[in-house]
Amino acid sequence: MGHAAEGTPFAQYVGSDTLLSLQRTRTGAETEPSFLIITQVMELLFKLAYTEAVRARDQLERDDLPGALRTLGRLRRTCMSLHGAWEALGSMGPTEYADFRDALGDGSGFQSYMYRHMEFVLGHKVPAMAELHRGHERVHRELLATLGEMSLYDAALRLLWRRGLPVPPSSVERDWSRPHPERDEVVAVWHTVYTEQEKHADLYVLAEALLDVAFELGRWRATHLLTVERLLGSKTGTGGTSGVTFLRRAAEHRFFPELWAVRADL
Ligand code: HEM
Repeated sequence: MGHAAEGTPFAQYVGSDTLLSLQRTRTGAETEPSFLIITQVMELLFKLAYTEAVRARDQLERDDLPGALRTLGRLRRTCMSLHGAWEALGSMGPTEYADFRDALGDGSGFQSYMYRHMEFVLGHKVPAMAELHRGHERVHRELLATLGEMSLYDAALRLLWRRGLPVPPSSVERDWSRPHPERDEVVAVWHTVYTEQEKHADLYVLAEALLDVAFELGRWRATHLLTVERLLGSKTGTGGTSGVTFLRRAAEHRFFPELWAVRADL
């Protein structure tokens, strides 16, 4: 006999009992609940962003561009929610953060494997970020699997290629676990999409839908950087990096770099 499900249909569907039992703060600091809960919210939103990006990728592979555009709309909104979630941490002061920081030990968002799944499926493949999780067998295996899969961006390039645009063969079929190097030929293909908008109307909409996602994630990173600078100044991070200097460099990264590069030529 399985054990009887407890609670209202809502609680059963949402998993409320489990979900609401996970806010185990480590100190009595006044601002720790907002920090922990917002971190958990962001982890869930990374998962949603990953899920939507996988779906959009698969839709592009099936030549379902209208479906992919609907999904990319949701993905963009998810990334906006991620950015908006910083609001709840925006008023924390440096001493309020210091009140519970020691209790985090070496813990850092740097170690968020859900964030890496999201980055990988979008096409930002950094194998070292999977290796960080070598000590956790299941997580490591799953990250290597995502690393080895075609990204959303790869699927977009393959669609352009099927539409007869001159995407280089090495961008259409390759070892997906490798970072995609920025290629002038691909920038030139996007240039065609932007300058011949009538001929490639739906591909132009796709390009801007991808850029919308990159834009919102850029805002997430920029606000993370500002928040961290406000709380830590030049202190090193709990994850062992230089802190703000590291994050400033990370904030310069753009998802879908060729879509940003083409702008200089338009
Ligand atoms: C509000 C207080 C926060 C501070 C002071 C902070 C600080 C930092 C620092 C210093 C780093 C660099 C790595 C290290 O040395 O630790 C980092 C990375 C990171 N943090 Fe935060 N963080 C905060 C909140 C969050 C939240 C709420 C999340 C959501 C899960 C998050 C996610 C990340 C991610 C994903 C990285 C890796 C970025 C990359 O590799 O590009 N952080 N954080």
